This record gives sequence, C-alpha cells and structure tokens, in this order.
Amino acid sequence: MRSKKLQITVCAIAVVAVVAGIVACAPKANTNVYGNPTPNVKESTATPTPDKFGVVKADQWKDEYPYEYMSYLANASNTPPAADYLAEDGVYALGGTKEDTTSALPEDFEYVDANKMDYLETNPEIKTLGKGYGYAKYYTEPASHVYSLWTVTHNGRVADGTKTKAACITCKSPQYSNYVDQNGAETHALAFNDVVGQLDENISCASCHANTPMKDGKVYLEVDRAEWIRSMGDDAGNTIEGEVCGQCHCDYSMAPETSIPTSPYDNGRSDMVPDKALAWYDKHNFVDWTYASTGAKMLAIRHAEYEFNYGGDNEALPMGSHMNQLGYDCADCHMATVTAEDGTVYADHHWINPTENDELIERDCKSCHADLKAEVKAIQEEIDGATTVLGKRCEKFIQNLEAKVATMQDDPNNAGEQVLMLDEEFAKKNGIDAKTLERLQWIQRASCYYWNLDAAENSEGAHNPEYYQYCIDKGNELLDEGDKLLGMSSLAA
Ligand code: HEC
Ligand code: HEC
Ligand code: HEC
Ligand code: HEC
Repeated sequence: MRSKKLQITVCAIAVVAVVAGIVACAPKANTNVYGNPTPNVKESTATPTPDKFGVVKADQWKDEYPYEYMSYLANASNTPPAADYLAEDGVYALGGTKEDTTSALPEDFEYVDANKMDYLETNPEIKTLGKGYGYAKYYTEPASHVYSLWTVTHNGRVADGTKTKAACITCKSPQYSNYVDQNGAETHALAFNDVVGQLDENISCASCHANTPMKDGKVYLEVDRAEWIRSMGDDAGNTIEGEVCGQCHCDYSMAPETSIPTSPYDNGRSDMVPDKALAWYDKHNFVDWTYASTGAKMLAIRHAEYEFNYGGDNEALPMGSHMNQLGYDCADCHMATVTAEDGTVYADHHWINPTENDELIERDCKSCHADLKAEVKAIQEEIDGATTVLGKRCEKFIQNLEAKVATMQDDPNNAGEQVLMLDEEFAKKNGIDAKTLERLQWIQRASCYYWNLDAAENSEGAHNPEYYQYCIDKGNELLDEGDKLLGMSSLAA
C-alpha cells in the first residue's frame, strides 16, 4: 500500500534532522549507480512470434527471461479498487465487491489493495475543479501496469465508451501504439469502444524493449510512442532509461481536431518548465473542456513524473531534480538490482515505491539518507498540504467568478433541467467587460493548470519539491490578480 495523502504526523524537528543527515556526495559514474553487480542475464537467442499487432507478449518471454517475467508478474499485487462496476446509474462505485477477472492474478498473489484511496472523498474540491470532465467523476490511487487495460475500461471516466476517444488507450498497451502505426494517427479520434476490445496485452515488455529485451549482452530499451519522440526533440542529454518511463509518465493533452495525445514540448527537457508548457498549450489552442458556468477553457493535466525528474531550463528551474543531477534515472529508484539465489543478477520489474523497498533503502540510499522514509514523508506533508490549499483556493475563485458571471439557464444537455451557465450580460451588469472576463477565464485555466500539475504528479512532492513549490507560487500569484479583478477574496477565511 502506498502512503496516503494528507497524513499529518511528522513534526518539524524531524525535517531539520533529516536534511542535515544528507551529506554531499560525488555523482555516480555511468549506469552502475551503487556499485552493485551488473546484471548477468543471458541473452535470448530467439525471438518468439509476434501477435497480429507485431507485439511479442510478456508470457512469451517467461522461459527466456524468468526473473524479469516473474518480477513483472508481481505487479499483480497492486490491484485496482474492488468495485461494483457500473451500478444502475452508470457510476463506478468504490468499496464494492467486483474484482478484475480479466487480468489473471497469478498463483501466490492476492488482492492486497482492494480498497484504494478515493481522492474525491479526501479532496472534494476536485469535483469543482474538474466539473464537466472525467476526473471529477472518478479519481483514485493508481494500480500497477499489469491492469492498465482493465483500469482504463472500468475507471468510470469513459462512461459507455462511445463519446470517449481511443486516444485514452495510448499508455495502456503496446498493441495500441502498433495499431496506430498500422492504421494511422486517425485511430486516436475513433470511439474508445471501437478499439479497446481488440486488445488483450497490458503495459508489457514491448512498451519499453520493443521485441528485443537484450542486445549484445546488454539491456535494450526503445521508446514505443511516436509523439513522445517528437516532443523530446534531439536533446543529446536524454537517457533512454528515463525516456522509456517518460513516454507515459508525462503530461499531454489531446490535440484539437485529431485527439492525438500531445506533450507541450518541442525541445525536450529545457521546454519542461510549467510556464513554457502552458504558453505552448495556449499558442496551439489546446482545450480539454469548457467550464460551462464561467466559459473558461480548461486543461486536464496528466502525471508529469518525467518533467519533475528531468525537466527545467536552468533559468526558471534547474534542469533535473537533485537526484537526477546526481545521475539517477527512474529505474535506479523504482527497479532495484536484485541477486537471485542462483547468482543471477537482474533488474526488479516490480515497480514500487522506493519507500516500500527496505532492501533498496538499506543498500542503495542509506549512505546519503539517514532516514529516507521520514525525509520523504516530511516533504510530502509540506507539499501536499500546500497543493491542497491551492486547490481549495482555485475552487473558491471559481465560485466567486460564478457569482458574478453565471446565471441559472435551461440545460442544453438535459431537457427540463436548469444549470448554472455563463451569462455575459449578467457579467456586464456586475462591471465585468469582455476583456476582463477573458482575463478571468484565463486565470481560472492557468491557476487550475498549476494546481493540477502538482496534484497529478504521483510522488506527492518527493521527486522534486522545488518544482512543486514553483507551481504553488505561480498558482497563488495568478489568484491574487484574479481576486483583485473580481473584488472578492479566494483565500480561506
Ligand atoms: C506504456 C505506458 C507506461 C510506461 C512505459 C511506464 N508506465 Fe508506469 N504506469 C503507467 C500507467 C497507465 C499506470 C497506472 C496503471 C493503472 O492504474 O492501471 C502506471 C503506474 C505506475 C506505478 C504505480 C503507481 C501506483 O501508485 O501504484 C509505478 C511505480 C510506475 N508506473 C513506474 C514506472 C516506471 C519506473 C517506468 C519506467 C521503467 C514506467 N512506469 C513506465 C504507464 C506506463
Ligand atoms: C531518487 C529516486 C527516484 C527517482 C529517480 C524517481 N522516483 Fe518515482 N518516487 C520516488 C519516491 C521517493 C516516491 C514517493 C514514495 C512514497 O510515496 O512513499 C516516488 C513515487 C513515484 C510514483 C508513485 C508511486 C506510488 O505507488 O505512489 C510513481 C508513479 C513514480 N514515482 C514514477 C517515477 C518515474 C516515472 C520516474 C522517472 C521519470 C521516477 N519515478 C523517478 C523516488 C524516485
Ligand atoms: C516499463 C518499462 C519496462 C517494461 C514494461 C519491461 N522492462 Fe525490462 N527493463 C527495463 C529497464 C529500464 C531495464 C534496465 C534497468 C536498469 O538499467 O537498471 C530493463 C532490463 C531488462 C533486462 C536486462 C537484464 C536485467 O534484468 O537488467 C531484461 C532481460 C528485461 N528487462 C526483460 C524484460 C521482460 C521479459 C519484460 C516483460 C515481462 C520487461 N523487461 C518489461 C524496463 C522495462
Ligand atoms: C550519493 C548520495 C545520495 C544517494 C546514494 C542517494 N541520494 Fe537522494 N539525495 C541526495 C542529495 C544530495 C539530495 C538533495 C537533498 C537536499 O538538498 O535537500 C537528495 C534528495 C533526495 C530526495 C528528495 C528530493 C529532492 O530533490 O530534494 C529523494 C526522494 C531522494 N533523494 C531519494 C533517494 C533514494 C530513493 C535513494 C536510493 C535509491 C537515494 N536518494 C540515494 C543524495 C543521495
């Protein structure tokens, strides 16, 4: 189980002690970050026959690479929430009993995570911030890679799958990337249901290795997703270890017209500064949905783990987190090197939190971090707390804006019902002219963007506290301006 949001336990003294516990150390040399033995896995001499999409599936590698395969299967213990999927009213309810029966749960594995956190319960402001978009309907802790297709189909955001686009399957299966390669980028704009049923392989070996896990006696890695390759530019400093994770653990938004999931960068890491990304979305007219009551053109921000670890332009923000500057890639913290009883050294493919991996902490972190768990917890409490405060402030701002620009009107989507909708005449009566309204709508878009960038990054602060704080400060600055324009305060009483 991962740590819960919004826990309030560690005291300030612990923070001081932990920070002082870190000693300055020399950067690591190349790949063998901790001086551990390098993998000695034997390279497969044959490639199994790919399926009709051109994908060699995980279970086809089980005899060639048993350690990677078995540790990959261990991800099955991080299950989606048990739920009564699709109750009468189409709502995906948490806490039910229906479990995933489509992804095989291997022998010896249990559903340990059957009750995930429901962020809509812990952070109800999300319902206001995402009103009119999928995440306001369903927002829980994620599950592991081996449930990706099940989760995306059943997570309560895609409704009946006729309006949602196939683009949502992008990061869920290597078969999908090949489907797009075979059928063209138009695939992204098809209905979700027209594509998803054809696929039966979750995120797997081919997502990161193509059909060649090893070459010349060493690991072989390859990025699967074309759009990510474009957005990374030709930055020579990129590491493939980071990029294979980054192709999915990044922010993107659906392009107007085509629905192609597009990251707001042309030159990779140096474009990964929040203000630059927002300006990119503005320039290219990206809008995930329009907020009915205020007319704000909203963006839905995705899990930017890559950006927080690797991004920055060395002006607004340093390039890379502290640990990345020391040379660490995602795999160094999330894929420990393990030595099996028979002497086989391999990379653990069970993707978990480093804080849940005592062996890793003891062996690979302790020399510099006296108490990593406490340090991470302290960072998360501070950052998570401030992110929640910003989210609640955005919510209050939206409510203030609604009070001056929205009236109850006939609901275009539900005959006979009334909803709160933008009313420019009413806004004028309240002293808000067209130009001011436009600015206020942008402030809603932008402040929610900064909040969402932090809220959706899954480390809750741990990857890069400075990057997080930057977003919190920017969001608050914009709301200060918005408050002045409205003549109302969004700060908590
Ligand atoms: C093909 C897309 C893809 C790639 C590549 C990928 N991930 Fe993921 N990852 C996901 C998705 C999607 C989820 C959430 C799955 C769900 O909820 O069903 C996830 C979940 C996770 C989780 C679990 C999160 C939780 O809270 O339980 C971890 C940890 C993780 N990924 C780490 C990594 C690392 C490290 C890499 C690179 C070695 C990587 N991922 C590469 C798509 C990907
Ligand atoms: C320096 C070590 C380090 C590096 C490098 C690193 N992470 Fe993390 N990651 C962490 C820590 C620490 C946490 C938070 C653990 C906790 O909540 O207890 C975390 C959390 C996560 C989570 C949430 C997992 C969960 O179950 O809550 C995901 C997903 C993730 N990282 C993906 C990535 C990806 C992708 C990269 C590279 C782009 C990356 N990490 C790089 C240390 C690292
Ligand atoms: C999310 C990305 C990802 C997926 C999915 C993935 N791998 Fe890997 N794999 C990696 C990375 C990254 C490394 C290198 C780790 C390192 O450098 O520490 C690696 C290393 C390897 C190696 C080299 C030997 C070793 O253990 O270091 C083999 C073999 C391998 N993987 C096989 C597989 C097989 C088989 C599957 C599917 C069952 C798979 N991988 C799924 C990312 C992935
Ligand atoms: C060679 C020394 C060294 C090792 C080994 C090391 N770290 Fe770090 N780590 C640092 C330094 C230096 C910082 C920056 C701390 C600061 O300035 O507050 C840091 C910061 C962090 C942070 C906080 C994020 C940030 O940007 O401040 C996390 C999380 C982290 N390390 C995780 C890990 C994990 C997980 C391991 C083991 C897998 C590890 N570290 C091993 C030196 C190290």
